[in-house]
Amino acid sequence: MKYGFFDDKNKEYVIERPDVPVSWTNYLGVKDLCTVISHNAGGYSFYKSTEHQRVTRFRPNGVPLDRPGHYVYIRDDETGEYWSISWQPVGKDFNKAKYICRHGLSYSKFECDYQGIKAEQLMFIPVEEDVELWDIKLTNNSGKPRKLSVFSYVEFSFHHVEIDNQNFQMSLYASGSNFKNGIIEYDFFYEPWTFHYFASSFTPDSYDCVRDKFIGNYRSETNPIAIENGICSNSTELGGNHCGSLHKKIELAPNESTRLVFMLGVGSREEKGEVVKEQFSDFANVDAEFKKLKHYWEEKTSVLKVCTPNKGLNSMINTWTLYQAETCVVWSRFGSFIETGGRVGLGYRDTSQDIMGVTHTNPNKTKERILELLQGHTSYGYGLHLFDPEVFKPKEDKLPGVKLPTVVPTSDPSDIVHGMEDVCADDAIWLVASICEWVEENGELEFFDEVIPYANGGEGTVYEHLTKILDFSAKHVGQTGICKGLRADWNDCLNLGGGESSMVSFMHYWAINIFIKSAEQLGQDEDIAKYKEMAEKVKKSCENELWDGEWYLRGFTKSGKKIGTHQDEEGKIFLNAQTWAVLSGVADTERAEKAMNAVDEHLYSKYGLHLLTPAYSTPNDEIGYVTRVYKGIKENGSIFSHPNPWAVIAECELGRGNRAMKFYDAILPFNQNDKIEIRQSEPYSYCQFIMGKDHTAHGRARHPWLTGTAAWFYTAVTKHILGIKPTYSGLMIDPCIPSDWEEFDVIRKWRGATYNIKIKNPNNKEKGVSEIKVNGEISSNPIPIVSKGSEVNVEVTM
Ligand code: GLC
Repeated sequence: MKYGFFDDKNKEYVIERPDVPVSWTNYLGVKDLCTVISHNAGGYSFYKSTEHQRVTRFRPNGVPLDRPGHYVYIRDDETGEYWSISWQPVGKDFNKAKYICRHGLSYSKFECDYQGIKAEQLMFIPVEEDVELWDIKLTNNSGKPRKLSVFSYVEFSFHHVEIDNQNFQMSLYASGSNFKNGIIEYDFFYEPWTFHYFASSFTPDSYDCVRDKFIGNYRSETNPIAIENGICSNSTELGGNHCGSLHKKIELAPNESTRLVFMLGVGSREEKGEVVKEQFSDFANVDAEFKKLKHYWEEKTSVLKVCTPNKGLNSMINTWTLYQAETCVVWSRFGSFIETGGRVGLGYRDTSQDIMGVTHTNPNKTKERILELLQGHTSYGYGLHLFDPEVFKPKEDKLPGVKLPTVVPTSDPSDIVHGMEDVCADDAIWLVASICEWVEENGELEFFDEVIPYANGGEGTVYEHLTKILDFSAKHVGQTGICKGLRADWNDCLNLGGGESSMVSFMHYWAINIFIKSAEQLGQDEDIAKYKEMAEKVKKSCENELWDGEWYLRGFTKSGKKIGTHQDEEGKIFLNAQTWAVLSGVADTERAEKAMNAVDEHLYSKYGLHLLTPAYSTPNDEIGYVTRVYKGIKENGSIFSHPNPWAVIAECELGRGNRAMKFYDAILPFNQNDKIEIRQSEPYSYCQFIMGKDHTAHGRARHPWLTGTAAWFYTAVTKHILGIKPTYSGLMIDPCIPSDWEEFDVIRKWRGATYNIKIKNPNNKEKGVSEIKVNGEISSNPIPIVSKGSEVNVEVTM
């Protein structure tokens, strides 16, 4: 069953039936102001931080779904009947009213056709301005003159998410609203530098700033009293709960159209609201900003464009997977309908991996993130598992001398440097790869010389930071020589407490080799020798200790018990142990093929690869929290999405393009577009996990958007399946594709040049390039870097 379709031309997902099983969300904003919005216009805005700077309120995990939101109501002033442009909150019978939601790149558009009135609500946040614009267009197709009222509605939030959810004896009296010059201003008495405003392109006929006056007691957003009455009560108050409702009466002759704009922004009325109101009352400025936003995404999506025989792959790679990966980098992982505030900052491993996906489309933001992560890196070699990079930024003392009773104490760097008990063994290793990839992509070798402070004091060059990461893993090994798992490794729920993790050792080997390539560029001969030796030692320990006969072990518990062995009844085989043995280069071909065959045999399902099987049914604290999660959910045997691309990469390493594509296609959200009764979640976003075969809801996807899956699948497809990979010596082309692909095209912009690449596969190969021509001339592989501004035609024959 499907609810919508991919409109590839416009890079939109179009939802035609609004009663999807769960909220299908989108992200507005690309800089500081963000709104997470559902297909029913439910959702919330925050400014920079979901914890500290909430703009509009959200009642997470509530009923009805995703309330409140950013709504526009229309009322027929002759009959008193009213509806909303998005299906919810009024929720008219959608067999009588036609609703469409288009989620695009950083914008959403709601359309409604009812009672002869065609209405449109386009929502976006300009690239450079902290204001959310709602561009409303109404057309009277009813053939008779109409008298209508239009109302906006948002519910403002108290600023800090905790204050918004508890201790109301304080918060309920600390913010207030007022109305002047057509603009609602919402202020925080306890935080006198903070204001939000709500404005429009018209002079309102009435307004409400007090939520309960607009909604009315024992009512909801479905049937607000103001809408029923056809007029707001012009309410404002100091203290209480606040909203932004501006009302306009309009008359439309047959076939007549009109346009209105609402503006929800950050800042005071005087400083921002009035300027913005004037600016966007001129609709040409609204159009110009929307054009800029479109251009912003056109630029990004033009860096790498693919055209292959796999339609789903094209759609996801050209648009949705890139968009998802960008979203994770720009907003980090803490603003969604699942993470709704309370945790902010950067997860060390999460952000390090997210960066890898978009070093080419967002060099600046990824560099900023890298610098933040380096500031959260300790001189001991480990990273701070979860930290707020703001702590390391110079303090702006915005309000000297005022003590704020409700505000959380400001942390000092020394408060957040945690000890070994909270170190996750994998966290910082990811950063080695992301930094090296960033430099390979952007060619800025000098970056390795930049000096960055350590979180616990002292400083080192970027290069030195990296050596400390590799040395840390070399030091923290168990008796077998395998890296200790410490608090956890990539799998947060595998808490080996003193045990060892094969995945971390495989990662260590992988990162050392990536690092060596950069050290070679820098002429660090001594280090190259040192780390080559280290790598050999790691490989030896892995090969001696971790082979289980048919596959690799996942590790050892503190008491030396094997994890992920055929000898066990549960948790016999783990996906990551196999994929990482192979993609790291540790496994020889024979073991690698066996291990990946075991993945196909034991972990494959039509919705993707399971993380482990069979799921654990009995708690075992030596293995960790994973044994305390229900079978088939999350880390206990679900189809955890993030590790799936590693299997694709591993298969590409083995040259098995058919198998790589089988694994890619199984979990591809695009391919589940007509199975929504099972999948439930958005088909344009990877979810954190899909219920596994040991759960009754096998196939149900949960937790969209904020997962490392996007960055990794983007990498798996572009660099491994399509095989286009920037290296220090040039652009490497080494595809690993299904044997029935006859050809495919890629346009790749890199270091200022454009490569138009056509790859032909006349002999139905899965891997192996036999000839490369650049502008008709035979070329080496990698293709040597061409001059900035040039455009070359590359013909590759497999
Ligand atoms: C969540 C965490 C991530 C972790 C994964 C597996 O997605 O954000 O850091 O690697 O779960 O436990």
